[in-house]
Amino acid sequence: MEEPQTQTSSPHVLLFPAPVQGHINVTLKLAELLSLSSIRVTFVTTEHSHRKLTLHSDVLRRFSRFPAFQFRTISDGLPVSHPRTFSHHLPEIINSFISFTKPLFRDLLISGHFGSDLTCLILDGFFSFLVDIGDDSFKVPIFCFRTFGACSSWAILSVPNLIKQGQLPIKGEEEMDRILDNVPGMENLLRCRDLPGFCRAADPNNDPILQFIVSMFIRSTKFDALIINTFEDLEGPILSNIRTLCPKIYSIGPLHALLNTKLSHKTESLNNLWEVDRSCLAWLDNQWPGSVIYVSFGSITVMGNRELMEFWHGLVNSGRNFLWAIRPELVKGKNGEIEIPAELEEGTKQRGCLVGWAPQEKVLSHEAVGAFLTHSGWNSTLESIVAGKPMICWSYAFDQQVNSRFLSNVWKLGLDMKDLCDRETVAKMVNDVMVNRKEEFMRSAAEMASLASRSVNPGGSSYLNFDCLIEDIRILSQ
Ligand code: UDX
Repeated sequence: MEEPQTQTSSPHVLLFPAPVQGHINVTLKLAELLSLSSIRVTFVTTEHSHRKLTLHSDVLRRFSRFPAFQFRTISDGLPVSHPRTFSHHLPEIINSFISFTKPLFRDLLISGHFGSDLTCLILDGFFSFLVDIGDDSFKVPIFCFRTFGACSSWAILSVPNLIKQGQLPIKGEEEMDRILDNVPGMENLLRCRDLPGFCRAADPNNDPILQFIVSMFIRSTKFDALIINTFEDLEGPILSNIRTLCPKIYSIGPLHALLNTKLSHKTESLNNLWEVDRSCLAWLDNQWPGSVIYVSFGSITVMGNRELMEFWHGLVNSGRNFLWAIRPELVKGKNGEIEIPAELEEGTKQRGCLVGWAPQEKVLSHEAVGAFLTHSGWNSTLESIVAGKPMICWSYAFDQQVNSRFLSNVWKLGLDMKDLCDRETVAKMVNDVMVNRKEEFMRSAAEMASLASRSVNPGGSSYLNFDCLIEDIRILSQ
């Protein structure tokens, strides 16, 4: 496809994702889609994320084809040596953003550092505190980009009501299976254990993480519009509920699939914060179709050695072949040094392939992969849906607990392993999804993949909504 000619009079949009792989990755896809539509894009990341991104990926070359695209960096206010592990340092990262990055960002916006002709800002819904709503110093419309799905967003938006009704706090382990009956659109579905992990706080009214996240979600409904990486056939009814709070919603996902449509070919994601090990693709080429379970827990999950061992035994005992992406920081205290336990060496050698970071989209679309054992991160969920692969979900944090409940009980695309982590369950679920109930799951996965594909193709809901977004940005710039 020929690259569009961007004029200096074209609309100019600033994008600023939260500094996490799952957010940067998908926001870069949105940036590429905007650039392909002749929108000028300024992409702001933290210095730390930008360093990692440019070290491990070819992202600069990829965007160099858009002369009007610019990367800009900003400090997160933390020392260079700070580990910035999202799951461990979230309060520290947020506090530093609030006290340091937010005023700096405001100054840079006002001084015209990012350009004096910005048409709108597209801010990450998770970091929607970055600007004050109604700040008159820069009169630029603000759109919120929601990288979570609608189901988890709606569950989070319902938390204040759940607290008011006395349904939260959860009073102990024995309450975990209690059904929450007052979340509109989720009747008889959500149990306490399916709420985002931070809802397990003992004192929700005074829990800083819970309060912060819920307030970010409520705040993001007050922006000029909400862009959300989902599609109507998947989450239409839940989107209708969110529209009662924020009527202007552009559902334009799955974004990676929409990008492939606009480019007229499948692209490889280059937006990685870790070095990609492509050797697993050759390994997959030598496996039978549908015979491999792909295992990855995304970019922020952290587990203990006990869980690692339960998964490992379960995978080997399942008798299926497995490809496992073990991110360097996945296991607490291991610093990427994972040794194959002696009793698992033979089974791993015969049936396994281990990498640090996989080319996930390519892996999921490989015919050898029959299913995905995932943490239910939203990007992973959508990537698997597009590839038509059933899932086994072991959710870790944030939106993932809600995603996995919808996946198993509403969309029927797999099994939810939530809160269980033992080798018997792992082996059983792998065999249930890949052998015993294979036909049933493959059928629903194929149906959902076809709906996803329809939504991003010309005339589909996400395709049309993206056109509306571009049109509305153009109108704003006139
Ligand atoms: C986090 C939250 O967990 C998620 O729920 C939220 O929606 C976004 O932020 P993360 O842990 O990064 O996300 O998971 P996910 O959303 O699934 O994103 C991970 C991304 O990394 C995916 O795009 C996936 O393709 C990519 N990835 C993952 C790889 O390319 N290789 C790997 O080995 C693992």
